[in-house]
Amino acid sequence: MFRGQQDLTPAAQIAFSARFGELLPPQLQRFALPGFPAIGVVSNAKDERGEAIGIANSGRNWHTDVQFDRTPPDATFLVSRELPGDGGDTLYASMTMAYAALDTGLRNRIDGLRVIHSRVRSWPILFPDRPPLPQSEIDRYPDVSHPLVRTHPVTGRQALYMGGNMAMGIEGMDDGEALALIRALRDFATGEAFTHAHRWRHGDAVLWDNRSMMHRATPYDDARYRRVMHRTSFGPAAPVHKGAPPTP
Ligand code: OGA
Ligand code: MN
Repeated sequence: MFRGQQDLTPAAQIAFSARFGELLPPQLQRFALPGFPAIGVVSNAKDERGEAIGIANSGRNWHTDVQFDRTPPDATFLVSRELPGDGGDTLYASMTMAYAALDTGLRNRIDGLRVIHSRVRSWPILFPDRPPLPQSEIDRYPDVSHPLVRTHPVTGRQALYMGGNMAMGIEGMDDGEALALIRALRDFATGEAFTHAHRWRHGDAVLWDNRSMMHRATPYDDARYRRVMHRTSFGPAAPVHKGAPPTP
């Protein structure tokens, strides 16, 4: 977390982000910052013609970014530009800590499982207020599966990667059982013991590791306040699972 970044230009945000890996442009290009296709705007604000300048209500549920892609970004960098007077915090949950706190029976049960993520099937459930996904996006994001226990490529530590709300099942498991397991893990892993609330201050910029954390935006009074955030994501890579020998 970096404070005092109010003078960080969009070009500098891009240059900084590109040091970590290949930039991943926002999924919805119509919400890119004009002139900067690599920067996504997360905002409730409208321009002078009344058009939304960014994605509103983004990330209101626990998730990691772009989990529905075969190669999600390693990290995301969010730079605050305008903040509401109240609310609009971002919560973070450590999936490494949560995994470490599971009992060994549960760890053995979930080792090697793969979660199925579907942007297409979850879209109308998650975003009933948004227009349907364009065909180009439907074609671009077929369902994918990722390991439920994800091994961090740098630290070697295991983390839960159960997906936000786009998880639709687990390979080889009955859907009812799979969804119950995913929900139980998510509720456990986003409990207060593993979470941190970032209260944004003017000029704050936050960089997070999608390989080991979930995050979530909290609401604010969007009739009263504007919130404008500039987002870059980078380092697309397929999540990996290195099985640990089962613990007796
Ligand atoms: C995101 C996101 C949370 C927020 O940009 O990926 O989830 O508080 N943002 O805006
Ligand atoms: Mn997010």
